[in-house]
Amino acid sequence: MSAPAVDTQFARDVRAGLTQPEQKTLDCRYLYDDIGSALFEAITFLPEYGLTRADTRIIQAHAEDLLDCLPSDLVIAELGSGSGAKTRTILEAVRKRQRAIYYPIDLSASALARCAQELGPLGIVMPLGMSYLDGLRRVAALRAPGQRLLVLFLGSTIGNFEPQAAIDFVNSIRQELAPGDALLLGTDLVKPTAQLLDAYDDPTGVTAAFNLNLLGRINRELQGDFDLRQFAHVIRYHEEAQRIEMHLRSRVYQIVSIRQADLIVDFAAGETICTEACHKFYLEQVQTMADAAGFRLARQWVDEEWGFAENLLVCP
Ligand code: AVI
Repeated sequence: MSAPAVDTQFARDVRAGLTQPEQKTLDCRYLYDDIGSALFEAITFLPEYGLTRADTRIIQAHAEDLLDCLPSDLVIAELGSGSGAKTRTILEAVRKRQRAIYYPIDLSASALARCAQELGPLGIVMPLGMSYLDGLRRVAALRAPGQRLLVLFLGSTIGNFEPQAAIDFVNSIRQELAPGDALLLGTDLVKPTAQLLDAYDDPTGVTAAFNLNLLGRINRELQGDFDLRQFAHVIRYHEEAQRIEMHLRSRVYQIVSIRQADLIVDFAAGETICTEACHKFYLEQVQTMADAAGFRLARQWVDEEWGFAENLLVCP
């Protein structure tokens, strides 16, 4: 017997994305189930994908510098707890000056548990299993008078937002902060097209697996019958929009059923599903984004080897 349709956010979003009249889409946040998160972690080790190493390099080189720009008595909150390597460097620097208090905010219970285990020995770690903004609101409410907040949003996840949504999101962060609080924002910079294409279509096929796993996840969680072998990982770079897009291209005409989303959908041969957009920045655009969101851009540190910037935005 087939399972009935379910009314979860995932089922609703899959139905909405795959019934778009022009370009079929799937929301990139669904790339990160346990398998997708493990594959993303593997991507960060690929020689072709230098983004995470650049992010880490800047933090390792400038953690002390960063703290010198900020008031003492800091509390750290991180949006998306990641693997903890970059945060470890920041907490170690904080620990030399004061007690480290760290709030990782993430919807993934497994990411939070790992983060607490790895970073717990460095200070007080208080994981919050909430959406980013709800988590920030909670941190703002919990902090003691006089404590300043440093929010970390690393790894250029901001690039996975559409440009206006990115400004709106940074503005929403600012609204949860008080004067003197700060946001450390990682942004991947525009770089040669060949380098970007290699980074998102690596010869080992890890990024392809990361992308295809989204269809696997729909099969597992929503009783879909996608044949993953009938889709190919495809990358497109839109130079003017400074945007890499990940797509899954149907190799043949095919009909797919997703029982729990109450959906039967057909794909023409060559038709694609857009699964992620990764925007790249010029340094001046970060300044514009900071201004538009009501922050003062206090510092930018750039990794020349890969082309990545860590930006310190201070709440005026
Ligand atoms: C998480 N995010 C910043 C990555 C990026 O580069 O946009 C996701 C990713 N997609 C494919 N490779 C990595």
